Amino acid sequence: MSIVQTFIVEPRTPELALCARWRVNAFSVLEASFKMELRSLEQFASDQRHGVALIAKIDGEPIGTCLLAESEIEPNHDVSPWLAGLFVVPEHRRNGAGAVLVRAIEDQARERGFSRLYLYTTEAVEFYARLGWTVLDHTHWKGFDTVFMVRDLSEPAAEKESAESDQSPPRRS
Ligand SMILES: CC(C)(COP(=O)(O)OP(=O)(O)OC[C@H]1O[C@@H](n2cnc3c(N)ncnc32)[C@H](O)[C@@H]1OP(=O)(O)O)[C@@H](O)C(=O)NCCC(=O)NCCS
Repeated sequence: MSIVQTFIVEPRTPELALCARWRVNAFSVLEASFKMELRSLEQFASDQRHGVALIAKIDGEPIGTCLLAESEIEPNHDVSPWLAGLFVVPEHRRNGAGAVLVRAIEDQARERGFSRLYLYTTEAVEFYARLGWTVLDHTHWKGFDTVFMVRDLSEPAAEKESAESDQSPPRRS
């Protein structure tokens, strides 16, 4: 089985445009243009003190992305940091890549000294719950019924994934 690896998206790499294109298509509700997404990702890449963009690859092929963000877009809750923009290309879903990206973002938050991580989701509550996330609130965000979830970063991972990351020792199962 191929291993999913995660990497920090670095400035001036073609991966910035790829992730921006994915985000425009997957999160059209945000109504951000490609140019806006690209500019935002360039900021993530150039200043990693406030957040980071990760890209997942299988055998060198980019297949997904996720962000650790200091702030969410127009949040209803005054917390930080956030896991945001989780996306895996359709042909590589249900192979553990989504879980690997979530774990890698959790690690990024831990490395920055955070004890909790937050997210909004409209559809993927069960997916995150299986990874140890807890529902904190139900809210109306960007016009959608949305679930506000938290991850206690002091807790161990709820389940193992086949993964390795350039940020942490390889994890395989
Ligand atoms: C959500 C997403 C990232 C999951 O990626 P993935 O690589 O398929 O995730 P994994 O392989 O690690 O886990 C898949 C498991 O989660 C479940 N799952 C995936 N999406 C789910 C959802 N929206 N709700 C509930 N369960 C979900 C799958 O059923 C699967 O479980 P199974 O194999 O037992 O059936 C992917 O479906 C995606 O990119 N969706 C579009 C963007 C999106 O909705 N992002 C989340 C924004 S909060």
